[in-house]
Amino acid sequence: MTTYNIAIDGPAGAGKSTIARKVAKELSYIYVDTGAMYRTIALYLLRKGVDAAQESAVAAVLPEIQVSIRYEDQAQQMLLNGENVSGLIRTEEVGNMASKVAALPCVREKLLDLQRELARTHDVVMDGRDIGTNILPNAQLKIYLTASVETRAQRRFLELTQKGVDCSYEKIKEDIEKRDDQDMHREIAPLIQAKDAVYLDSSDMTIDEVAEKVRSLCQQGR
Ligand code: CDP
Repeated sequence: MTTYNIAIDGPAGAGKSTIARKVAKELSYIYVDTGAMYRTIALYLLRKGVDAAQESAVAAVLPEIQVSIRYEDQAQQMLLNGENVSGLIRTEEVGNMASKVAALPCVREKLLDLQRELARTHDVVMDGRDIGTNILPNAQLKIYLTASVETRAQRRFLELTQKGVDCSYEKIKEDIEKRDDQDMHREIAPLIQAKDAVYLDSSDMTIDEVAEKVRSLCQQGR
Protein backbone atom coordinates (compact mmCIF):
# COMPACT_ATOMS: atom_id res chain seq x y z
CA MET A 1 0.00 0.00 0.00
CA THR A 2 1.34 3.41 -0.90
CA THR A 3 0.38 6.13 1.51
CA TYR A 4 -0.09 9.77 0.54
CA ASN A 5 2.27 12.12 2.35
CA ILE A 6 2.11 15.89 2.53
CA ALA A 7 5.17 17.61 4.02
CA ILE A 8 4.87 21.16 5.36
CA ASP A 9 8.06 22.88 6.45
CA GLY A 10 8.75 26.44 7.46
CA PRO A 11 9.87 28.78 10.24
CA ALA A 12 8.28 29.35 13.64
CA GLY A 13 4.85 30.95 13.57
CA ALA A 14 4.26 30.54 9.81
CA GLY A 15 0.97 28.77 10.55
CA LYS A 16 2.12 25.27 9.70
CA SER A 17 0.30 23.52 12.50
CA THR A 18 -3.01 25.33 11.92
CA ILE A 19 -2.90 24.58 8.20
CA ALA A 20 -1.65 21.02 8.60
CA ARG A 21 -4.34 20.22 11.17
CA LYS A 22 -7.10 21.70 8.99
CA VAL A 23 -6.00 20.02 5.77
CA ALA A 24 -5.54 16.67 7.54
CA LYS A 25 -9.04 16.88 8.95
CA GLU A 26 -10.58 17.72 5.59
CA LEU A 27 -8.76 14.89 3.82
CA SER A 28 -9.19 12.42 6.71
CA TYR A 29 -5.43 12.04 7.00
CA ILE A 30 -3.58 12.11 10.28
CA TYR A 31 -1.74 15.24 11.32
CA VAL A 32 1.79 14.63 12.61
CA ASP A 33 3.33 17.54 14.49
CA THR A 34 7.04 16.71 14.64
CA GLY A 35 7.85 19.91 16.55
CA ALA A 36 5.85 18.46 19.45
CA MET A 37 8.23 15.49 19.51
CA TYR A 38 11.27 17.77 19.88
CA ARG A 39 9.37 19.75 22.50
CA THR A 40 8.70 16.55 24.47
CA ILE A 41 12.40 15.72 24.60
CA ALA A 42 13.12 19.36 25.51
CA LEU A 43 10.68 19.17 28.43
CA TYR A 44 12.42 16.11 29.81
CA LEU A 45 15.83 17.81 29.58
CA LEU A 46 14.51 20.97 31.25
CA ARG A 47 13.03 18.94 34.08
CA LYS A 48 16.32 17.12 34.57
CA GLY A 49 18.38 20.30 34.25
CA VAL A 50 20.46 18.89 31.39
CA ASP A 51 22.50 21.48 29.47
CA ALA A 52 21.58 21.32 25.77
CA ALA A 53 24.99 22.72 24.84
CA GLN A 54 26.60 19.48 26.03
CA GLU A 55 25.77 16.84 23.50
CA SER A 56 27.33 14.05 25.55
CA ALA A 57 25.13 14.93 28.53
CA VAL A 58 22.03 14.88 26.31
CA ALA A 59 23.09 11.62 24.63
CA ALA A 60 23.57 10.02 28.05
CA VAL A 61 19.95 10.57 29.08
CA LEU A 62 18.27 9.92 25.70
CA PRO A 63 17.82 6.18 26.38
CA GLU A 64 15.70 7.14 29.43
CA ILE A 65 13.26 9.02 27.20
CA GLN A 66 10.41 7.26 25.49
CA VAL A 67 8.50 9.50 23.11
CA SER A 68 5.24 8.16 21.73
CA ILE A 69 2.05 9.55 20.31
CA ARG A 70 -1.60 8.76 20.61
CA TYR A 71 -4.62 10.25 18.87
CA GLU A 72 -7.68 11.42 20.80
CA ASP A 73 -10.51 12.80 18.64
CA GLN A 74 -7.95 13.14 15.84
CA ALA A 75 -5.74 15.34 18.03
CA GLN A 76 -2.15 14.25 18.52
CA GLN A 77 -1.26 13.65 22.16
CA MET A 78 2.40 13.51 23.17
CA LEU A 79 3.45 10.93 25.70
CA LEU A 80 6.70 11.25 27.62
CA ASN A 81 7.45 7.92 29.29
CA GLY A 82 3.72 7.31 29.28
CA GLU A 83 2.76 10.72 30.76
CA ASN A 84 0.54 12.88 28.56
CA VAL A 85 2.54 16.13 28.33
CA SER A 86 0.59 17.76 25.49
CA GLY A 87 -0.51 20.64 27.71
CA LEU A 88 2.99 21.29 29.05
CA ILE A 89 5.06 21.63 25.90
CA ARG A 90 3.57 24.78 24.38
CA THR A 91 5.58 27.35 26.31
CA GLU A 92 8.25 29.61 24.78
CA GLU A 93 10.78 28.13 27.22
CA VAL A 94 10.16 24.62 25.88
CA GLY A 95 10.15 25.92 22.27
CA ASN A 96 13.52 27.59 22.70
CA MET A 97 14.97 24.47 24.31
CA ALA A 98 13.48 22.35 21.50
CA SER A 99 15.30 24.47 18.94
CA LYS A 100 18.59 23.95 20.79
CA VAL A 101 18.29 20.19 21.18
CA ALA A 102 16.99 19.76 17.64
CA ALA A 103 20.45 20.78 16.43
CA LEU A 104 21.94 17.62 17.99
CA PRO A 105 22.33 14.62 15.66
CA CYS A 106 21.58 12.10 18.45
CA VAL A 107 18.21 13.74 19.09
CA ARG A 108 17.23 13.86 15.40
CA GLU A 109 18.29 10.25 14.96
CA LYS A 110 16.07 9.19 17.84
CA LEU A 111 12.93 10.67 16.24
CA LEU A 112 13.61 9.72 12.63
CA ASP A 113 12.16 6.19 12.72
CA LEU A 114 9.00 7.24 14.54
CA GLN A 115 8.34 9.95 11.93
CA ARG A 116 9.05 7.74 8.91
CA GLU A 117 7.03 4.84 10.29
CA LEU A 118 3.96 7.03 10.78
CA ALA A 119 4.19 8.22 7.17
CA ARG A 120 4.76 4.70 5.86
CA THR A 121 1.66 3.35 7.54
CA HIS A 122 -0.75 6.31 7.28
CA ASP A 123 -1.77 9.09 4.91
CA VAL A 124 -0.25 12.06 6.73
CA VAL A 125 0.16 15.77 6.77
CA MET A 126 3.44 16.13 8.62
CA ASP A 127 4.89 19.48 9.62
CA GLY A 128 8.34 20.45 10.81
CA ARG A 129 11.62 21.82 9.53
CA ASP A 130 13.19 18.98 7.52
CA ILE A 131 10.24 16.84 6.49
CA GLY A 132 10.45 17.52 2.73
CA THR A 133 14.24 17.63 2.65
CA ASN A 134 15.18 14.77 4.92
CA ILE A 135 12.44 12.75 6.60
CA LEU A 136 10.09 12.20 3.64
CA PRO A 137 12.07 13.02 0.48
CA ASN A 138 9.45 11.15 -1.56
CA ALA A 139 6.41 12.96 -0.17
CA GLN A 140 3.88 13.46 -2.97
CA LEU A 141 3.36 17.11 -1.99
CA LYS A 142 5.80 19.45 -0.29
CA ILE A 143 5.00 22.93 0.91
CA TYR A 144 7.39 25.54 2.27
CA LEU A 145 5.16 27.82 4.31
CA THR A 146 6.51 31.13 5.51
CA ALA A 147 5.48 34.70 6.37
CA SER A 148 7.28 37.90 7.34
CA VAL A 149 8.85 37.87 10.79
CA GLU A 150 6.48 40.65 11.93
CA THR A 151 3.41 38.67 10.86
CA ARG A 152 4.70 35.54 12.54
CA ALA A 153 5.49 37.36 15.78
CA GLN A 154 2.06 39.01 15.74
CA ARG A 155 0.33 35.65 15.25
CA ARG A 156 2.27 34.03 18.08
CA PHE A 157 1.55 37.04 20.31
CA LEU A 158 -2.19 36.75 19.65
CA GLU A 159 -2.17 32.99 20.18
CA LEU A 160 -0.48 33.40 23.57
CA THR A 161 -2.53 36.37 24.77
CA GLN A 162 -5.73 34.55 23.82
CA LYS A 163 -4.60 31.72 26.08
CA GLY A 164 -4.13 34.29 28.85
CA VAL A 165 -0.32 34.16 28.75
CA ASP A 166 1.35 37.45 29.70
CA CYS A 167 3.92 38.21 26.99
CA SER A 168 5.52 41.00 24.97
CA TYR A 169 5.43 41.32 21.17
CA GLU A 170 9.05 42.55 21.07
CA LYS A 171 10.33 39.61 23.09
CA ILE A 172 8.41 37.13 20.92
CA LYS A 173 9.81 38.71 17.76
CA GLU A 174 13.33 38.43 19.18
CA ASP A 175 12.76 34.78 20.12
CA ILE A 176 11.46 34.01 16.65
CA GLU A 177 14.44 35.68 14.96
CA LYS A 178 16.82 33.77 17.19
CA ARG A 179 15.05 30.47 16.54
CA ASP A 180 14.98 31.10 12.75
CA ASP A 181 18.69 31.74 12.87
CA GLN A 182 19.37 28.56 14.87
CA ASP A 183 17.11 26.41 12.71
CA MET A 184 18.40 27.72 9.38
CA HIS A 185 22.10 27.70 10.19
CA ARG A 186 22.60 24.45 12.03
CA GLU A 187 24.76 21.81 10.41
CA ILE A 188 22.30 18.97 10.55
CA ALA A 189 18.92 19.12 8.80
CA PRO A 190 18.77 22.92 8.56
CA LEU A 191 15.50 24.58 7.64
CA ILE A 192 15.63 25.17 3.87
CA GLN A 193 13.10 24.88 1.12
CA ALA A 194 13.24 21.50 -0.63
CA LYS A 195 13.89 21.89 -4.37
CA ASP A 196 10.53 20.39 -5.23
CA ALA A 197 8.54 22.23 -2.53
CA VAL A 198 5.91 24.82 -3.36
CA TYR A 199 6.76 28.16 -1.72
CA LEU A 200 3.82 29.82 0.02
CA ASP A 201 4.07 33.19 1.75
CA SER A 202 1.06 33.46 4.03
CA SER A 203 1.68 37.05 5.22
CA ASP A 204 -1.34 38.35 3.32
CA MET A 205 -3.41 35.19 3.21
CA THR A 206 -6.10 33.96 5.58
CA ILE A 207 -5.99 30.47 7.06
CA ASP A 208 -8.79 29.40 4.74
CA GLU A 209 -6.97 30.70 1.67
CA VAL A 210 -3.78 28.85 2.56
CA ALA A 211 -5.66 25.62 3.36
CA GLU A 212 -7.58 25.89 0.06
CA LYS A 213 -4.32 26.35 -1.85
CA VAL A 214 -2.78 23.27 -0.22
CA ARG A 215 -5.89 21.20 -0.97
CA SER A 216 -5.94 22.26 -4.59
CA LEU A 217 -2.23 21.44 -4.97
CA CYS A 218 -2.98 18.05 -3.46
CA GLN A 219 -5.81 17.41 -5.94
CA GLN A 220 -3.66 18.46 -8.90
CA GLY A 221 -0.98 16.01 -7.76
CA ARG A 222 -3.24 12.99 -7.27
O1 CDP B 1 5.37 25.82 16.59
P1 CDP B 1 6.74 26.37 16.33
O2 CDP B 1 7.00 26.59 14.89
O3 CDP B 1 7.09 27.50 17.20
O4 CDP B 1 7.77 25.28 16.79
P2 CDP B 1 7.69 23.72 16.61
O5 CDP B 1 7.27 23.35 15.23
O6 CDP B 1 6.91 23.13 17.75
O7 CDP B 1 9.24 23.30 16.76
C1 CDP B 1 10.03 23.66 17.86
C2 CDP B 1 11.50 23.53 17.46
O8 CDP B 1 11.80 22.15 17.15
C3 CDP B 1 11.89 24.31 16.20
O9 CDP B 1 12.35 25.59 16.47
C4 CDP B 1 12.98 23.44 15.57
O10 CDP B 1 14.24 23.79 16.02
C5 CDP B 1 12.70 22.06 16.06
N1 CDP B 1 12.17 21.18 15.01
C6 CDP B 1 13.06 20.60 14.15
O11 CDP B 1 14.25 20.83 14.21
N2 CDP B 1 12.63 19.72 13.20
C7 CDP B 1 11.33 19.45 13.07
N3 CDP B 1 10.94 18.56 12.14
C8 CDP B 1 10.38 20.08 13.91
C9 CDP B 1 10.84 20.96 14.88
